[in-house]
This record gives sequence, structure tokens and C-alpha cells, in this order.
Amino acid sequence: MKKSTRKFDEISCGSGTSKKFPTQLVREDYFKCPIWFADAPEFVKELNKASDPWIKKAKKNIHDEMKKSKVKWPKGDFGSIYHSNSLIGQPAFRKLQDYIGITTANLLLEQGFDLTNYQIFITELWVQEFSSKGGGHHTLHTHWNGHMSGFYFLKASDKTSRPMFQDPRHGAIMNLLPEKDISKPTYASWQINYEAKPGRMIFFPSYMPHMYVVDPGLEPFRFIHFNCQAIPIGVLNAHKNKK
Ligand SMILES: [Fe+2]
Repeated sequence: MKKSTRKFDEISCGSGTSKKFPTQLVREDYFKCPIWFADAPEFVKELNKASDPWIKKAKKNIHDEMKKSKVKWPKGDFGSIYHSNSLIGQPAFRKLQDYIGITTANLLLEQGFDLTNYQIFITELWVQEFSSKGGGHHTLHTHWNGHMSGFYFLKASDKTSRPMFQDPRHGAIMNLLPEKDISKPTYASWQINYEAKPGRMIFFPSYMPHMYVVDPGLEPFRFIHFNCQAIPIGVLNAHKNKK
């Protein structure tokens, strides 16, 4: 037992050895996980107006379901989220779709992907609003079969929910050590959150796990969520030829 302890001392750091090691090592970063944001407030007014009927309809659907349900809801629709149907192709959302499609292509190119034989499609686009009674949230998830995802905030403030991203490297998470200062983004960080404000656009790879922290219901929280996929042109041609 005594022998084994001495052996550990010899190889552990801080053992008082006087051996000189390099003081500065060259660090190179690989397998990076990007998140991009931009402020594009020019769509906010128009898209809030265009979203109103969709949210109204989604709210009615939830309230109708609650009325039909045998369950008693003492806190009303606390914790609910009003999700619209798909907005893809809706004329009022066309400008935003163009922004998303073009930006997605640019960001995939920026990352080093070759899109020569691919075409970008927005596969999902919908607006959602959290209950005014609070409790709205998203659990941690990814968007499968996609290459770029994102948000566009229409109603938000420092009193509403915000998106939280988690390190997609599961192996890294399994072996984490405690962080020295969780307020600083470092190599030890495993979660990062972004402030949500009207007009803010966030793009991220669809493999990035994300969630929304619980909303306290103090102020309205509404945003558009979208997912994009790069589809091989060969597949599109084969599909066209089949018709
Ligand atoms: Fe999501």
C-alpha cells in the first residue's frame, strides 16, 4: 500500500519537481461549434402583425383542448406554448425566408462545406408564444436531419425566457471538471445562454442541443424558430424525373 502511494506522488503534478517544462505551448482549436447572431430589427413590426392571427389560432386550439379535457386546469394554460402551423411559403414571411435561406448557405460555406451539389431548403418555420401565465419552456433537444437551425425574436426582454445551448460533445460532458468561473465562456463551459431581444437573429448547427429556460410570465415572449436542410441536387433531379 505504501509503495503504491509513493508511485502516484512521482507522476502527479505539483510534486515539487524542479524539471523545466515549456512555459508556452502552441494551442490549436479543432472541431469548433459556432453560434452566430445578428440584429435585424427591420422585420419585427411587420412579422409581429403577420404572426398575430397565427398565435390567436394556436391559443384558441389550446384553450379548446383544455375545455374538452376531463383534467381540471387550476392554473389555466400555465406552462403552455402556442405553436403556429407551418409558415413556409406564406407571403408575409417571404422576406424572412429569403434572409434565412441565403444566410444559411453563406454560413455553411463559411464553415468549409462544399455546397456545389446541394440546394438549401427551409424545412420548418413557425412562430410560437409562451403563455402569459408563465412556465413556458423547451426541454433540451436537437433538430435531426438538418444542417442549420435558428431563432428570430419578435417579443422578448431581459424578463423573459432565453435560449440555452449545450456542448454537443457528449464525451466531453461525461468527463467535465468543475468550472472556476461560470460567468466566463471558457474551454470548461458546457452551457451558454443568449439574451433574447426583438430583432435578434440566431443561427446554429442543427446538431447543437438547445433549450429555453422557464419563462416567468412577466412580459410577452414570442419568436420564430426555423430549420434548414441541404439536399443533394441529384436527389432533387431524381424526384423531378419521377414526376
Ligand atoms: Fe429547437
